[in-house]
Amino acid sequence: MKYLSIILGALFCFSLTACDMGPKSSYGFTLPEGNADYGQQYFVEFRCIDCHSVANMQDTLMIPEGIEAIMEVPIGGETTKIATYGQLVTSIINPSHKVSDQYQVTPEIGNGQSMMRNYNTIMTVDELIDIVAFIQNQYVLKPVSPTIYKMY
Ligand code: HEC
Repeated sequence: MKYLSIILGALFCFSLTACDMGPKSSYGFTLPEGNADYGQQYFVEFRCIDCHSVANMQDTLMIPEGIEAIMEVPIGGETTKIATYGQLVTSIINPSHKVSDQYQVTPEIGNGQSMMRNYNTIMTVDELIDIVAFIQNQYVLKPVSPTIYKMY
């Protein structure tokens, strides 16, 4: 019986790592340190601000006069789980990976395609790294309030 639980436990751990380590896994993915100040500049230069508002930076990151915002997808602010580098890079280089129903405004564009522009052929890897460093700094981890259990 004791051996059975050890074997089952080992199999369970193996199945977990096996999933994590598949050829398409993001295991081992790390970015070099980015420069968040440059990232902020690029965020404006690439006109991310046409569609994104950044928490607490409404006065700093302003759309040039005469240009209308296309939409307002909030970035930054309080969250209970800060997005990883992997998630942020994915949302920039492959925005249609996860498309929110909220922003599918027209059926033609809304067929699983993100409204977000594709930057893959114009953004350098360095620019991407700096933008990710900037975006990650905009999130503030909100402590999760513990569930209070009643005493019976
Ligand atoms: C034309 C509008 C548009 C532009 C321009 C745009 N985005 Fe987006 N972005 C979106 C939409 C819409 C989403 C929400 C995901 C979805 O449903 O497609 C999104 C999602 C994101 C997310 C994920 C946010 C989250 O909370 O998960 C990041 C990060 C992001 N964009 C970064 C950028 C950066 C960096 C730029 C500029 C290089 C940029 N975006 C330019 C429309 C845009």
